[in-house]
Amino acid sequence: MGTFISFEGPDGAGKTSVMNAIQQWLEDRVGADQLLLTREPGGNRISEQIRDVLFDDQNTNMDPRTEALLFAAARRQHIVEDIEPALRAGKIVLSDRYVDSSVAYQGGGRHLGADDIWELNQFAIHGLLPDLTIYLDIESSLGLRRISEHRSDQVNRLDREQLHFHQEVRRAYLTLAKRHPNRIVTVDASQPLAKVITATQRVIEKRLPQLK
Ligand SMILES: Nc1ncnc2c1ncn2[C@@H]1O[C@H](COP(=O)(O)OP(=O)(O)O)[C@@H](O)[C@H]1O
Ligand SMILES: [Mg+2]
Repeated sequence: MGTFISFEGPDGAGKTSVMNAIQQWLEDRVGADQLLLTREPGGNRISEQIRDVLFDDQNTNMDPRTEALLFAAARRQHIVEDIEPALRAGKIVLSDRYVDSSVAYQGGGRHLGADDIWELNQFAIHGLLPDLTIYLDIESSLGLRRISEHRSDQVNRLDREQLHFHQEVRRAYLTLAKRHPNRIVTVDASQPLAKVITATQRVIEKRLPQLK
């Protein structure tokens, strides 16, 4: 079996930036053919079709539970078509988001309840938890500032809602990290990117000593 590593954290935390660096770093060590870089929701045709429904701007009337079910459905297909075959082939799988995102966003942000969303997802993941989850933790207002630099000092009602939503998401992530101390490693994502990358490499080396 290979190794399954998920990357978590809010938009703006640096998941894409860090994963690109980690991909390069791992490619040099194990070779590109031993790596699968993937993202949720997505990865294959069916999951990408579900992604389109989830992110369609016209679907403003989507019920939060519908949203949670669709994320879980996309996750199931992602596991079966992409993640499990790669793990069976002995690869290292790096996934941009996985089950913790559902717990943080639908459970925390959308107030559906972390425990209910966790339970719902047990049906979808059927036991497949990552060997390691890198949680890029960042104070919510700083994360938001990174994605909308130009509006940082002009906070309107919508921005405040957004900030509150993101604070709920962060709270849920921090609770998850406490509940799963062996799986989830928190990395301080407010540091300069180079430091975040180095910290992430150290965490991965610890789990995969053969990389050193
Ligand atoms: N540690 C960091 N310090 C400063 N800026 C960063 C850092 N990490 C990422 N960024 C910048 O923040 C923005 C969001 O980063 P990104 O990697 O796309 O985050 P995510 O994939 O988690 O949404 C990008 O413009 C990126 O260059
Ligand atoms: Mg990203």
